[in-house]
Amino acid sequence: MKINQQKLPRHVAIIMDGNGTWAKRRGLPRNRGHRQGALALKDIMLHAAKLGLEYLTVFAFSTENWKRPREEVEYLMNLPKEFFSEHEEDIVLENIRLRWIGSRERLSEEVIQEIARLEEKTKDNQGLVFTLAFNYGGRDEIVHAANELLKTGKEINEQEFNNFLYSNFLPDVDLLIRTSNQQRISNFLLWKLAYSELYFTKTLWPDFKPKDLGKAIREYQRRERRFGGIK
Ligand code: FPP
Repeated sequence: MKINQQKLPRHVAIIMDGNGTWAKRRGLPRNRGHRQGALALKDIMLHAAKLGLEYLTVFAFSTENWKRPREEVEYLMNLPKEFFSEHEEDIVLENIRLRWIGSRERLSEEVIQEIARLEEKTKDNQGLVFTLAFNYGGRDEIVHAANELLKTGKEINEQEFNNFLYSNFLPDVDLLIRTSNQQRISNFLLWKLAYSELYFTKTLWPDFKPKDLGKAIREYQRRERRFGGIK
């Protein structure tokens, strides 16, 4: 069965889980799993752009990931720079616009600058909006928004609240994919996930291929979305 181009999800979000497990099964250090995960991400990003998806958002580092061993945190902190140095050309060539959501707290100036550089470089691109959630937590995002709102002293509605979120430029998530057989939201995009379709797969993230993205989208296209109404 083919993907119905008329019914593409506008915004796909992914919790890329299972890098550690992938490495462990091969007797490799966990960081090798993250390296392989970054390669899988490159293929998925390019495939999403080719398919014509408007928004792809991936969970690359959560506010809770600081609890991991120092070595692993250091490796993960270096990944955006490594990813861009290897794939910057592809990103530009495929007309992809890079965005970042997350907190600046604890991030080094170097990481912030590197991400900002790519955001600036790709800001006029009209293709896929590829958003890295990096040092991101859903509750942190909402509390940050609430604090910003307090400064205005105004009462607001849902639409206006969205303007205070890190992810204010993103539409609601249509399809959330989580790999590695875990069925949790894990503090990802809480505000934007209110009516998302959820898709879980046993496949480990480094093994997740463009054909698996296609499968998830076809499953999404079979679902009936009601948004709280009736058929
Ligand atoms: C979760 O797997 C994965 C992460 C915490 C890191 C995700 C990072 C990538 C996929 C690399 C691409 C990143 C960038 C910034 C370009 P896990 O380690 O929790 O896996 P496990 O549950 O099997 O241990």
